[in-house]
Amino acid sequence: MQSEYVKRVGEYTNDFFDRRGRRPKFFIKTYGCQMNVRESEQLAGMLVAMGFLRNGSENGSDLIAYNTCCIRQNAENKTIGNIGLAKFYKETNPDLTVVFCGCMARQPGYADYLQKNHPYIDIILGTNERWRFPEHLAAYFNEKRSFADISDAYGEPSDYGVDAGVLVSRNHRHKAGVSVSYGCGNFCSYCIVPRVRGMERSRAASDVLAEAEALAQDGVRELTLLGQNVNSYNGEGSGIACESVSFARLLEMADGIGGIERIRFLTSHPKDFSRDLIDAMGSLNKVCKSVHLPMQSGSTKILEAMNRKYTKEQYLGLVDLLRASVPGVSVTTDIIVGYPGETEEDFCETLDAVNQAGFEGAFTFIYSKREGTPSSKIPYDLREETVKERFERLIGTLNLILLKKNESMLSKTLAVMAEDDPPGADGALTGRTDGNALVHFYGAASPGEIVEVKITEAKTFYLVGERV
Ligand code: 5AD
Ligand code: SF4
Repeated sequence: MQSEYVKRVGEYTNDFFDRRGRRPKFFIKTYGCQMNVRESEQLAGMLVAMGFLRNGSENGSDLIAYNTCCIRQNAENKTIGNIGLAKFYKETNPDLTVVFCGCMARQPGYADYLQKNHPYIDIILGTNERWRFPEHLAAYFNEKRSFADISDAYGEPSDYGVDAGVLVSRNHRHKAGVSVSYGCGNFCSYCIVPRVRGMERSRAASDVLAEAEALAQDGVRELTLLGQNVNSYNGEGSGIACESVSFARLLEMADGIGGIERIRFLTSHPKDFSRDLIDAMGSLNKVCKSVHLPMQSGSTKILEAMNRKYTKEQYLGLVDLLRASVPGVSVTTDIIVGYPGETEEDFCETLDAVNQAGFEGAFTFIYSKREGTPSSKIPYDLREETVKERFERLIGTLNLILLKKNESMLSKTLAVMAEDDPPGADGALTGRTDGNALVHFYGAASPGEIVEVKITEAKTFYLVGERV
């Protein structure tokens, strides 16, 4: 269906070539999570199919797309701070098309706000509407009229199946993400995601696997299965039995794809982490022994207020079970500091949980009030200095744990998959262990190759080693 519009925009880019003696160039600026990164690859794929060339920055681009995130206020501030550049470039390049898409665009009333205050934006597109990007571009080039599509009324990505996978221009040759579900149905009290991305919908297992197979055939070695809560994946099966497929079963199926060497998944919700999934992690060779398991807080009272549906003890029990069942597993987390009503006692519970869990990595955030979420209605009683001071203490505690963990790797030989980053000034390459630890290492390796590296130095956020 979209191929008709791809062709039409292709005529526009050919005409651009005739007029300007070069193909139009695009740049996509991506904010936020892995899901957005993958969706930017899809937008890029559509643009390449329509005859655009990828450009390295806004400067000199004929189309700039901002794929935005609204999870915290500072993510929004960064975007708004940056889109002024587009206005500046538009003054010098009348052919420039400015596209604003992603989660920020889906907030109620936001498209109107943008149209009033940032009139240089030509096309506003939500997250679910990105499949109509070619159609919208065709209409825009035809009529030169700005508009917004945040209607959510159109086909789900799975309707386009593998076709969608074909129109993807990846950031890396050796690794890629594949969405297993869209949206989120957990309604954590602080979180805007269900409001901007809608309720959780699992893609059919056959669509996920077909996309993964296609990627493997195209040289992908590491696959990351993506969803806001992959553990509650429950996809339509196929064949005569047509039973629904759990996430553990999906992992098992993905494990059988030839050419794939590592499988990761993001993000897990502790309340849905099943015994089956733990067993699958322990038994499937390609599945990395690495779990991102957001804890958010160590206080059972705050966890309840957050609507997380587990207690501190249940969370720590799950970490213990994981460590006992999957030897060497790496557990990383997300923590929010300064949730409304968080007392010093609650915060100390978080520090205690961090010490007990002994995380291999953590993303830490200061609570950000998001309009329309249940917690935005709670009167905020914490002082900014108190929250900042707690945040610093949390980072101090975490960093000590990380350094100790990394020091325990000294003189071990680990399997490291080489990344495609350019070598550092000292010639070191970067790679990731099975547990997702970052390693700078000396010695040759091509991106996606798994090599043995002996660890010679341990820092807080990375390891240093030599290929053996
Ligand atoms: N404020 C601060 N952090 C948040 N997160 C989600 N919503 C908020 C918010 N309103 C964090 C959570 C989540 C991660 C992706 O972002 O820790 O796991
Ligand atoms: Fe940000 Fe959430 Fe949207 Fe990802 S899904 S871009 S984290 S708001």
